[in-house]
Parts: sequence; structure tokens; C-alpha cells
Amino acid sequence: MSSFVFSNKPITIESGSGATLVADDGTEYLDAGASYACTPTGHCHPAVVDAIQDQLTDLIYVQGSYPVDSRTELHDKLAALAPNGLEKVWLCNSGTEANEAALKFARSATEGTKIVAAKRCFHGRTMGALSATWKAKYKKPFEPMLEDVEFVAYGDDEELEAAVDEETAAVILEPIQGEGGIHPAPEGYLETAREVTEETGSALIFDEIQTGVGRTGDLWACEGYGVTPDILTTAKGIASGMPLGATIVADWIADGAGPHGSTFSGNPVVAAAANATLEVVVDEDLPGNAAAVGDSLQTELDALEAPIRDVRGAGLMLGIEVKRGANRILRDLALEHQVLALPAGRSVVRLLPPLVLSEAEADEIVTALDAILGED
Ligand SMILES: Cc1ncc(COP(=O)(O)O)c(C=O)c1O
Repeated sequence: MSSFVFSNKPITIESGSGATLVADDGTEYLDAGASYACTPTGHCHPAVVDAIQDQLTDLIYVQGSYPVDSRTELHDKLAALAPNGLEKVWLCNSGTEANEAALKFARSATEGTKIVAAKRCFHGRTMGALSATWKAKYKKPFEPMLEDVEFVAYGDDEELEAAVDEETAAVILEPIQGEGGIHPAPEGYLETAREVTEETGSALIFDEIQTGVGRTGDLWACEGYGVTPDILTTAKGIASGMPLGATIVADWIADGAGPHGSTFSGNPVVAAAANATLEVVVDEDLPGNAAAVGDSLQTELDALEAPIRDVRGAGLMLGIEVKRGANRILRDLALEHQVLALPAGRSVVRLLPPLVLSEAEADEIVTALDAILGED
């Protein structure tokens, strides 16, 4: 029986390796979306598989209060790799939970209650994260949402300055908006967010659930902007497809954090997958590969004569704004060229491939897009 929540694709996937997925009829697909940025190390990277298998035979689960090597190692690794000054880690199971915790921690550590978020943003589907998500379609059937959430135009410094005050617990922003159509923060915007939150004693949350773990060419996208938040959330690719989210916070947030918890926080097997993922990302310099391959991909896409309105993003997080509906293009890419890409709204084709993508594979994506878009 199929899911009543997800739409069901007409391709059954049986295995994967690197940036390739293999269907049950043996057809190979180039995975240009990594199922929404979830496999930075590529499918079934041997180091990740080994780490999971080793941990499985030792211990699958013990409650989060007990130190377990893989869990302790992950706390240490995240604290060491997070932007300067973010050293306290809460582990959970998904992106929405990481943001849910971030919003709760911000409220408990500050005097404020208001959440300021950006139009077009996406932060998840549990009630708190959903309340701070922009699209009405996701919220309407579940109303009422949390009160005290104000949305400002993404990239507009003045609107942000006007919205943030002493009542504000948190400003939550994606350094590059993903679901909203791949919109990088304009120059100076994240600095403004940093300044106003400091002035008002509010927490600055960067949602790096899609941008993090090397995708944009830096380990964390905020490093490329030179701005450090008080809370950074990550998920998706952090454990190469195993379910993990993390909320990484500054001391003042951890010191003021109210009671929080979750049964599966820091599951040892998932933690082992994350440790191996982070090692591969750093040792194989996947942010460097994302920057280099992403740059040439962007240059080649810019040079296409096909009807493209815009190419935007950073590293291997790219949006191609097209003139006709993205969904038909995605279907044709999959069925005619065996390239699996993603939408970001109606008119943007989104590329979030594994960060191990080679130049040759990037060329295949460009050739396929050129052929499909050229049909117009
Ligand atoms: C920026 C951002 N935040 C939060 C989420 C929610 O993550 P999850 O689906 O793991 O709950 C997503 C998922 O697409 C995302 O892209």
C-alpha cells in the first residue's frame, strides 16, 4: 500500500552509489537532488555504511542521558566544527524538530516571545516550525498557528530593523532560502540581522538544514557570509540520510534553555552515521568540491541559450528559474534523460546533488537540461 501523505513516483529505487540511483529494472539515474540534500557523501558511502554496521552490532539504543561513545563523539565533533562560539548541541531526529527546539530555546533564554521570520521561508511542519513557515498552503488546514510570528520581506534591511524589538525572542532565517526558490541573502542582510538581534537581546537563528554540511562551498553557509548566529540548526545531510537533526547553540542560549527532550535524541547508530559523514565531508573536502563543481555548473548553465530567466545559488545549491512549469521539465528530465532534479515552487528547477558530484556528472545535468529546455 502506498503513502497517503506523499505523492508516489513511478520509479522504484533499489540501490544507490555515489550520485547514482538504480531502479528495479536496472535503469541508472543521476541523482541531482539527493532527495532534498540528504546524501552529501553520496549514496551508501563505504565509510558511512561501515560506521552504521559497526555500531549496530554494539548497541542500537540507550536513552540520551547515558553517555555512549558515538553520541559523545558527535557532540564534540559538532561543537568543534560549528561556527565559533556555538558549542552546545541538542540532537533530535529531523529538521523541523531542530527548529522547534531552536524556537523554544530562544523563548526561554530571552525576555521575548515574538518570532520574526521571512516571507518565502520554510522551517518545517510541526506546529512551532510551521507557524514560522511562510506558505499559507502548508498552514491553512491546521490553523490556528502560534501567535506572535511576524513575516518580513527577505533581504529588506529596513523591514527587519522595524520588526525586531525588545519583545522579539528570535529572528529565524535561511542564509539561502531553499524551498522558497533558491534566494541567497543579499550582501549585508545577515549582518543587519546580527546587529538588530544583538541590540534587542533577541536570538539569531540560522536554519542551515538545507544549506549546511558543505553544500554551499563552506561547511556552513553563514561562514561564507562571515556572520555567526546564536543558534544554528542542521539536519538533512548531516547523517547521510539517517534521521538526525541538531540545534547548536551559544552558551547564553544553553544556560537559559527550558526543559526539553526526546526519546530518540542522539540515537547511537544515527550518531555513528553522522560522525562518519562529518569525517568524509572534511577529509574529502566536499565543501571544496561543491564550490568547484558548483561554479562550473553555474557557468555552464548561464551560458545556455535555452529559455532560462535566472540561475542563482552557491556551491551545489542551485536554482534555475525557467519560463515554463518546472514540474513538466522535471518529469522529462527523469524519463528522457534519467536525471532526478527537484522543484522549488512552480518555476524553479532545484539542484541539490550529492557533494561528491564529478565535473562529468555536472556536464550530464547541463546537457540534459539543455535538451529539455531547448524543446520549447
Ligand atoms: C530550510 C529547511 N528547514 C527545515 C526543513 C524541515 O526539515 P525536515 O523535513 O527534516 O523536518 C527543511 C526541509 O525541507 C528545510 O529545507
